Amino acid sequence: MLVPSSTLTVVRTATELRRAVDSARALGQRVGFVPTMGALHAGHATLIQAAAADLDAVVVSIFVNPTQFNDASDLKNYPRTEALDFEIARQAGATIAFAPSCDEIYPDGFATTVRPGAIAELLEGEHRPGHFDGMATVVARLLGLVRADVAYFGRKDAQQLAIVEQITRDLAIPTEIRGVDTVREDDGLAMSSRNRRLDRAGRRRALAISRGLFAAQRLADGGERSARTLEAAVLGELAVQHLPVDYVSLVDASTFRPVDALDRPCVLAVACHVGDVRLIDNVRLEPALVVA
Ligand code: PAJ
Repeated sequence: MLVPSSTLTVVRTATELRRAVDSARALGQRVGFVPTMGALHAGHATLIQAAAADLDAVVVSIFVNPTQFNDASDLKNYPRTEALDFEIARQAGATIAFAPSCDEIYPDGFATTVRPGAIAELLEGEHRPGHFDGMATVVARLLGLVRADVAYFGRKDAQQLAIVEQITRDLAIPTEIRGVDTVREDDGLAMSSRNRRLDRAGRRRALAISRGLFAAQRLADGGERSARTLEAAVLGELAVQHLPVDYVSLVDASTFRPVDALDRPCVLAVACHVGDVRLIDNVRLEPALVVA
């Protein structure tokens, strides 16, 4: 069977976006949305494919949001590969790419900040001050601009996903939020736009992150419940590669507060540095079923 490759309409302004989404709706199409900061890789493509499988029209936004970068050099070094992004988005099934300028997202007079509550205080919130305010504000604005039926977010950024679920609930944003599992390289490294800044040695050392998380996963599957022991499995692998650690923490999967024991659904979350590249990753852990 010949599957026609989708055509991608590129829009740069809120008005053009509204027109493109309205035309899709006029055809009776339901609309999916995948917000990104570009530098698209197979992880993003998986989100777009999930949206294309569920809905008729798929909007992908590409906007490197300056307000969520707490580190000026991270913003400056963030990879920008727009032409390739459009091609990856199209092949994955996107029908509309929204690539706005900064003025389009933050026009003169823009003054609101969305500040998520306690869920945003620890982990990334603690180590990247202001990051989640910037992320929540831009996501709320993008969801308002696109007015999609369903929006897709990766579990790679588990705390971000939980915050997005919280703000859409609290602000009664009528878009359903769906999570998509983390996409990994064959050797386990979680895909990230920042991986392309790793040199060959850094790429190898970064494998300690997923190796540690998978070791903790095996311990949890075998019945281990101590948070300290599960965290130590990750810390041990990071120490072998001398990777400076921001945090390794077992947290409740809904509150993102630290727990002492794996006695409910949890997330084991890691942030560390490989040279000047900061990477995050996590696995979801459930208490093992105890067979009597
Ligand atoms: P960005 O880092 O570009 O990620 C866009 C989406 O892709 C996020 O939902 C992220 O969780 C998901 N993603 C990234 N790597 C993934 C992987 N390996 N597997 C599965 N999903 C993955 O996250 C952002 O942009 C921004 O904060 C944004 C939400 C766009 C707001 O500016």
